[in-house]
Amino acid sequence: MPSPADRSPPILLRVAVLFLLLSTASAWKKDEFRNCDQSPFCKRARGRKPHSIPSLSAADVSLSDGAVSARLLPSQPLRQNTAGDDPEADRDPSRILLLRLSVYQGGVLRLQIDEDPSAPRRRFQVPDVLLPDLDDHRLWLPRLSSPAAGSSSSFYLADGFEAVLIHDPFEIQVRRKGSAEPVLSLNSLGLFDFEQLMVKKNDGEDWEERFRGHTDTRPHGPQSISFDVSFHGADFVYGIPEHASSSLALRPTSGPDVEHSEPYRLFNLDVFEYLADSPFGLYGSIPFMLSHGARSSSGFFWLNAAEMQIDVLAPGWDDSASPAKGRIDTLWMSEAGVVDAFFFVGPDPKDVLRQYIGITGTPAMPQEFAVAYHQCRWNYRDEEDVAAVDAAFDEHDIPYDVLWLDIEHTDGKRYFTWDRVLFPNPKEMQGKLAAKGRHMVTIVDPHIKRDDSFYIYKEASEKGYYVKDAMGKDFDGWCWPGSSSYPDVLNPEIREWWAEKFSFQSYVGSTPSLYIWNDMNEPSVFNGPEITMPRDAIHYGDVEHREVHNAYGYYFHMATSNGLLKRGNGMDRPFVLSRAFFAGSQRYGTVWTGDNSANWDQLRASVPMILTLGLTGLSFSGADVGGFFGNPEPELLVRWYQLGAYYPFFRAHAHQDTKRREPWLFGEHNTALIREAVHVRYSLLPYYYTLFREASVSGIPVMRPLWLEFPADKETYNTGEAFMVGPSLLVQGIYEKRQKSVSVYLPMGQSWYNMRNGAAYTGGISHKLEVSEDSIPSFQKAGTIVPRKDRFRRSSTQMVNDPYTLVIALNGSLAAEGELYVDDGKSYDFEQGAYIHRRFIFADCKLTSIDVRPAKIGGKFSSDCVIERIILLGLPSGAKKAVIEPGNREADVELGPLTLRGGSSLVAVTVRKPNVRIADDWTLRIL
Ligand code: NOJ
Repeated sequence: MPSPADRSPPILLRVAVLFLLLSTASAWKKDEFRNCDQSPFCKRARGRKPHSIPSLSAADVSLSDGAVSARLLPSQPLRQNTAGDDPEADRDPSRILLLRLSVYQGGVLRLQIDEDPSAPRRRFQVPDVLLPDLDDHRLWLPRLSSPAAGSSSSFYLADGFEAVLIHDPFEIQVRRKGSAEPVLSLNSLGLFDFEQLMVKKNDGEDWEERFRGHTDTRPHGPQSISFDVSFHGADFVYGIPEHASSSLALRPTSGPDVEHSEPYRLFNLDVFEYLADSPFGLYGSIPFMLSHGARSSSGFFWLNAAEMQIDVLAPGWDDSASPAKGRIDTLWMSEAGVVDAFFFVGPDPKDVLRQYIGITGTPAMPQEFAVAYHQCRWNYRDEEDVAAVDAAFDEHDIPYDVLWLDIEHTDGKRYFTWDRVLFPNPKEMQGKLAAKGRHMVTIVDPHIKRDDSFYIYKEASEKGYYVKDAMGKDFDGWCWPGSSSYPDVLNPEIREWWAEKFSFQSYVGSTPSLYIWNDMNEPSVFNGPEITMPRDAIHYGDVEHREVHNAYGYYFHMATSNGLLKRGNGMDRPFVLSRAFFAGSQRYGTVWTGDNSANWDQLRASVPMILTLGLTGLSFSGADVGGFFGNPEPELLVRWYQLGAYYPFFRAHAHQDTKRREPWLFGEHNTALIREAVHVRYSLLPYYYTLFREASVSGIPVMRPLWLEFPADKETYNTGEAFMVGPSLLVQGIYEKRQKSVSVYLPMGQSWYNMRNGAAYTGGISHKLEVSEDSIPSFQKAGTIVPRKDRFRRSSTQMVNDPYTLVIALNGSLAAEGELYVDDGKSYDFEQGAYIHRRFIFADCKLTSIDVRPAKIGGKFSSDCVIERIILLGLPSGAKKAVIEPGNREADVELGPLTLRGGSSLVAVTVRKPNVRIADDWTLRIL
C-alpha cells in the first residue's frame, strides 16, 4: 500500500477535486448517505418479525457484587447455515454472552451485555461519558425474588418499582410494584440479536462492505446488536437527536399507514442543506428516548457510539391481528459496541430528565455573556470589517455581546493562527471589543493541515497523535485546508496535548476575552465515505472508528473545553460551541443545529430540534438565526430574530455566499423590529440566567415542551410550535409569510397574560389571535414572577449593576412565585456559594424575598443592585401605596406600562422605585 503522500494528487488536481467536492456538496444529496437497506446490519434487523430468530435464555441467574449476573445461552441449538449466507450460523455455539443488571439511586436500572472473555477481542465500551462517581450511587441488591417455578427473578429498583428478569426467553421488565403490566420492557418481542466477533478462517471470507467507491474492510466480521424496547402506557415518544423535524413527538417509521420511511438514524454527519423533515442523521447523536403519556413517563438510553438506527413502530407493524394498545414498540439497531443500557422509571417527565442527567452529568453553567446575543458570519473579512460591524451595533442601538470569526481569519485554515494581512493585530482587535464588555469567538476545527511548517501538524505527527487509517498510517482526509489529519482525541494524553494549545503562550494572538467554536467535528471528511472518516480507521486502544464514530466530536469538544478551563486556571467558565455532540456533551458547552436554510420550514423545525436537544441534556442550544444557506427575505429574518430571541443560544449566522444581513441592512422599520426582538432577550437576561442555573443543577432545560410543565394536559403532548421558556413564559413562533392570525393553545390550570400588553387569557383552550409584525405571541403564566432588566446597554456585561424589574402575574388567588439567581457571571466561585438566590413570593398583597441558598453554604457574593420597579398583572384596582419592611419605607403605586419599549400596552399596577436590594430579605405590602 503506498503511503498517503505517494497517493496525494498533484496540487492543481487537488484544488480541482476540492472545488468539485464543495460545489457538488451544496445541496442535500440523498445518495451521498447510506440508507437502511444499504447497511446490512440495519436491513437484516429491520426485516425480522417478532420471535422469528433463535431466542436466548438467562442461566445461572445470581447476585454477585450487589448486582444481578447471568449467562445468556441459546434456548435451542443454533441453526445450520444451509444457505451459507447467514454469518450467525458460523459462530462458535460454545460462546455465551454475559448479562449484568445493576440499580442506581433515583430509579435507574442498568443492563450490560457483552461477550465473555473468550471473544477474539474486547468490544468497545464508551468511556468518559458516564459520571466518574456513578458507582458511588449504585444500590447494593440484598436479594433476588423468584417464583416457585424459577422462571423469573425480580428485585428492588426504586420505591414503587421493581425490575424483573424473565429467564426464557430472556426479557427485562421494569414494573410498578404489584402490577403485572410493565412500564418498560426489552426483548418482549424476541428481537434481541447480538453478532459475536469472529476471526477470519480463510481469505475467502468476504466481510467487506462497499459504498460509493469506498470499501470498509470490517476485519472482525459483522458485530451488530439489535433489540426491541417497549414503552408501556405511552402516548408519544421523543428524543434521539439529531434529526430535523416539524414534529416534536417522534413519528412512527414503520407499520400500517406509515409511508415508506427510514428508521431514525444516529450517525454524526456533515449534511449540506439538510431537509426540514427527515429521519436521516445529522451532526450529533444522543441515543436517549423518553416516553410520555397520561399514565406515566419513562426513558431508555443506550450508551453506544457506533452507528445506530431506531424504528418507532406503529401499532400493527408486525401484522398481528390484535395490535398492542397503550404501548409504543421501538427497535434499536447498532453496528457495533456492547449493550450498556439504562432504563429510567420516571414517573414524571422531569424525573426522567433528572435520572438521565444523574448518569451523564448536568449542563455546564455558562458565563453570563454567552446567554446574550451573538453576531456571526462566515466571514467577517478583516479587522476593519469587525470594527465597522461593532460600531454599527452601537449606532443602531442594538446590544450584542460576541463577535465571531469563521475559518477565513486563519492563515490558510491552520487553526490557532491568524491571516497576517487581514488580521494583523488580533490582540488589539479583541481589546477594543473587550473595552465595551464584548467578547470574540474564533473557530478551531479538528482537521489539521498536513504541512510540516505548521507547528501543530508537525508536533502531532512527530508524537504519533493522529487517527490511523486501516493500514496503520496517519489518516489523510480532505477538509477546508486540503489534505488533513485528525487528532485522536479518544486518547486522554492527546486531549491533554490539545488542551494545552489554548494557553495564551501557545495560541498567539488570543486574549482572555476570546472563546472557541468547534466545527466539522463529526468529523467531516470531504472525500470520505458519507463525508466522514472511514469506519475501519483506527483509534487509540485499537478501537475501530465505527465503534467510536458518534463520540469523536464529543471528545474533541471535551478537550477544547478543558483547554479553556486550563487557560483560565480553572477560574474562567469555558465557552465552546460544538456542532457534533453525544450524550454528555452538556458538560462541555453549547451546540447548534448546524447548516439550516433561510426558509420558513426550517424556522419551524428549529423549535422541535432545540426542544429535543433540551430533553436529552443539551439545554444550551440554538439554530442559526436567519438561516445559514440562502438569503432570508426581511420578513423571515425579522420573524427569526423574534423567535431566536427565545432560543437558549441566540446567534445569527450566514454562509459566505449570502448577502450581508446585519440587522440594520433592511431599512429603518425592520431595524426597529429586530432591535425590539434583541431588546426582549436582553430584558429577560436575569430570567434566562436563573433558568441556566436551574438547568445546571437539575438538567431541566431552559426551553421546554409544554408537556414538561403540564404533564397532565393531553393537548400539549404533540405540540412543537409553541414552547415554554422555564416554568413561566409560553412562546408561539410565527412560521408563515404574511401570517394574519394564529391559533395558540394555552395549557389548562391557569390563566395567561400577554407579555406585551398584559391582556389576560383563559387556560385550557386555543385562542385565535391576530398576528402583529412587532412581535410573536408570548405569555406569562398566572402565578409566576419574572425578573427583568429594562435598561439597554451595549452588552450584557455593561448591565451588571443595573436595577431590576419584577413582573408579577397573579393567579386567581392573587398569588405568584418566582426566582432570581445572580453570581459574578464568570468564575466558579458560585460552587463555593458565592451567589444570590432569592425566591419571591406574593400572597395576601405582600411580596416577600426569601434567601434559598442552602443554610450551611459558605461563600458570599454581594450586589448592590436594587429592584426599581414591580409590575403587577391581575391586581384589582385600588392599590394606593406600598410599604417596605424593614424600615417602614413607602413607595408609590401608580398605573404604568408593562414594557418601557413602546408598543401598545395596557397599564398595570406599578410600584415605582421600591429600591429594595436583591441581596436582602424584605417584604413589600401593597395597601
Ligand atoms: C460549517 C458550519 O456549520 C458553518 O456554520 C460554518 O460557517 C462553516 N462550516 C465554515 O466554517
